[in-house]
Amino acid sequence: MMLHLLPLISLATGTISLRITPKSTTDTTQLPLVIWHGLGDDFERDGLNNVANLAEKINPNTHVHIIHLSDTGSGDRQATFFGNVSDQLDSVCAQLSTDPILQSAPAINALGFSQGGQFLRGYIERCNNPPVHNLITFGSQHNGISEFQQCEIGDWFCSAAESILRSGTWVDFVQSHVVPAQYFRDMNELEPYLEHSNFLADINNERAVKNGAYKRRLESLNLFVMYMFGNDSVAVPKETAHFADVNSTDGAVTGLKDRRIYKEDWIGLRSLDERDRLDFRTVPGQHMEISREELEGAFREFFGPTRNDLIVANAAAAAAASSVQLEWVEDEEVKSPGLVVQPGSL
Ligand SMILES: *[C@@H]1O[C@H](CO)[C@@H](O)[C@H](O)[C@H]1NC(C)=O
Ligand SMILES: *[C@@H]1O[C@H](CO)[C@@H](O)[C@H](O)[C@H]1NC(C)=O
Ligand SMILES: *[C@@H]1O[C@H](CO)[C@@H](O)[C@H](O)[C@H]1NC(C)=O
Repeated sequence: MMLHLLPLISLATGTISLRITPKSTTDTTQLPLVIWHGLGDDFERDGLNNVANLAEKINPNTHVHIIHLSDTGSGDRQATFFGNVSDQLDSVCAQLSTDPILQSAPAINALGFSQGGQFLRGYIERCNNPPVHNLITFGSQHNGISEFQQCEIGDWFCSAAESILRSGTWVDFVQSHVVPAQYFRDMNELEPYLEHSNFLADINNERAVKNGAYKRRLESLNLFVMYMFGNDSVAVPKETAHFADVNSTDGAVTGLKDRRIYKEDWIGLRSLDERDRLDFRTVPGQHMEISREELEGAFREFFGPTRNDLIVANAAAAAAASSVQLEWVEDEEVKSPGLVVQPGSL
């Protein structure tokens, strides 16, 4: 699910001066941008570095950090196929919280391509330090995939991951080692998913016991924008980019707003929506085929200089979210959750 920019972006790379002024008394701050790439991509690829350059060109003084799970491109690419996503998130939480520039910023913006989008959401729900201001995802699998992608011939990592995935999606070994298995979800086979899913069922708060901190942290976002590719046939179903549920048997689509995750507000999507903080966009094209205009437009609209009062308000909400540990348990009989504060957790 590598990033393809159409037409190919080629920008002269000039020297970039970094200037982050977190306690600035001016009215706006240019927040750093953190990018998490997709399956089969790596932090050294030209496509990704062109995106970073474009972000700096559109919004001067943007410090861009491309998340990487290894110091080499090949190791980073391998980690998009293999690994325990929870462990990977732990290491990304450590990477971002110890980066001197990111750590000194009052907040960061986040851009997720394909699976990197749901992983950035995982970052927000699990740690969110530094806190994310705007989260923008392109073709991400927020509600999982019900089919694994076709691998290109000769792509050994992809083929190996695919064959292990097919050998048993719900086997714990697969759940702890094959990345796409950890967001595999078929609405017609929810039972094994709820029992074994190592990542998605947890961050989507789909199990009976809900993690209130996940909801609070996601709610603290200023904006959550989800782009779907109109002709996406790689991420199946494509509507997963908008959190819709699609019946793999008859193709019936249940939009987010008709789903319990929204109606009972398991992860804060409804409260974000009620405050006008959710944005669903559709762009033409196949998976990860982003036009340069589209990307530039998104950078202008969402990653420009940000008003300091907004940054402070959202960062305060994010900090408050981390200091409470609310859990609530779904009440199967009345089908509505009641808030349960675990004894001693406050
Ligand atoms: C993945 O890693 C987490 C954190 O280390 C661990 O709790 C979990 O059990 C692992 N998942 C599996 C399926 O082994
Ligand atoms: C999916 O569609 C099939 C065929 O229409 C139907 O039998 C099944 O109950 C549907 N699944 C869910 C979870 O609604
Ligand atoms: C999908 O591609 C076809 C053919 O290229 C085009 O006519 C159609 O408008 C596209 N659909 C979307 C939703 O982008």
